[in-house]
Amino acid sequence: MSTPNSTNVDPKAARRRNAQEEIGHGSEADMMKGFSKLTRDERFARLVDMGALSEEDVKFLKSGGLRDFTLAESFIENVIGYFQIPMGVATNFVIDGREIVIPMAVEETSIIAAASKTAKWVRENGEIRTSTRGDLIIGQIQVAKVSSYESFAERVMSRKDELIALANRDVAHGLVARGGGVREISVRRLVRPDGGEMAVVHVLADPCDAMGANIINQVCEYLKAPIETLTGERVTMCILSNLVDTKLTRAEVRLRGLDQDLAKRIEEASLFAWMDPYRAATNNKGVMNGIDPILIATGNDWRAVEAGVHAYANRDGQYRSITRWSVEGEELVGVFEAPIVVGTVGGVTRLHPTARMALEMLGVNSAAELSRVCAAVGLVQNLGALKALTTVGIIEGHMKLHIRNLTIGAGANEVETPLVQKRLEEILLLTKRISLQNAIEVLREIRTAARAGEASPGGALS
Ligand code: MEV
Repeated sequence: MSTPNSTNVDPKAARRRNAQEEIGHGSEADMMKGFSKLTRDERFARLVDMGALSEEDVKFLKSGGLRDFTLAESFIENVIGYFQIPMGVATNFVIDGREIVIPMAVEETSIIAAASKTAKWVRENGEIRTSTRGDLIIGQIQVAKVSSYESFAERVMSRKDELIALANRDVAHGLVARGGGVREISVRRLVRPDGGEMAVVHVLADPCDAMGANIINQVCEYLKAPIETLTGERVTMCILSNLVDTKLTRAEVRLRGLDQDLAKRIEEASLFAWMDPYRAATNNKGVMNGIDPILIATGNDWRAVEAGVHAYANRDGQYRSITRWSVEGEELVGVFEAPIVVGTVGGVTRLHPTARMALEMLGVNSAAELSRVCAAVGLVQNLGALKALTTVGIIEGHMKLHIRNLTIGAGANEVETPLVQKRLEEILLLTKRISLQNAIEVLREIRTAARAGEASPGGALS
């Protein structure tokens, strides 16, 4: 079990501290003040001042974040281009006592704003602590129909140390050299619908700082032949499992001095998501709103993490919320626990220049640390959603930001945009709802007024 590690040397953090001392700032909290109101250039300057970005990074981002077009060809087949997702930074996060700028690649309008706003609330009223439990990933080897499960299991388990040694010697030697490798083998029995028996061998391995998909798949495929020889049974398939309940990440948020009524309402909202799968699905989507953008920004496999989190949410046979919030005396306490299997090496994490930059920005020293950041942001994102849902509702925050998208969607030009936005904000305030149709109508009115203005002295927009 690893726990928050405050003694790790973080070169980026050292750079940050130097940068802060040089420019005489107290902390990142000061530097993050008014961040969302800055222009893009000012944001870059701030992040460079903080040591979160280098001048090189800024040049790269300003040039569109594309260093080498041919890179895509080495990632996938039949390349025709890139799909651009905006990348921003969530601010105000203090995780395990460390101030940290969170890179997030995401298209949904309000996610970064909500994360930053809620993180500020948490930093002012409490704290975020994270930890990990277990470090083994799981590979599965299926024998669809065993003639006798008992004798199959007995044969595999009696020779498991040899199988482990074989896999470590012939396949996972690189991992072993880094302190990881295959650690354990177990066998599970599943009863088939036809009454027969299915055997599943679980191979458990420590992938160190890699996500480990490739290596565990290789290990399982390698073990297929020895297992068949040993047992006389036929292996059907080999693949990793994304339900990695042997490698869990936990985040805990504690808030003090809250309005007790609000705290109680958040507790009730959490109970709703715990009890009702319909609500749990949406609650968990909101949690993943915080996690997926970090996974994308750091080049991690977000589909794998999604699959693992949702499967874990169903571990007792009912799909439940992956977070719990409860009132404990004066405190509101939130907990997230699920598998977040990520890598800081391997896959595209180090090959993709933006992913490499995002990892640098986070200043994480290990895959476990990256998973803890993800868990913390997911939990804070969930808190932001629950706070909004139990107070003003979700529309207010979402729609204010959504107005920008509607304005673009309606086709407003640069001059028209502020006018349309202002009018849409008024409509939102009055009616509590807003749609693309509103934006189109407002734009039509503005254009009609402008044409009428052009026709008369003075001008409608003057
Ligand atoms: C929207 O992207 C996410 C929420 O629906 C999450 C939730 O309901 O908890 C607001």
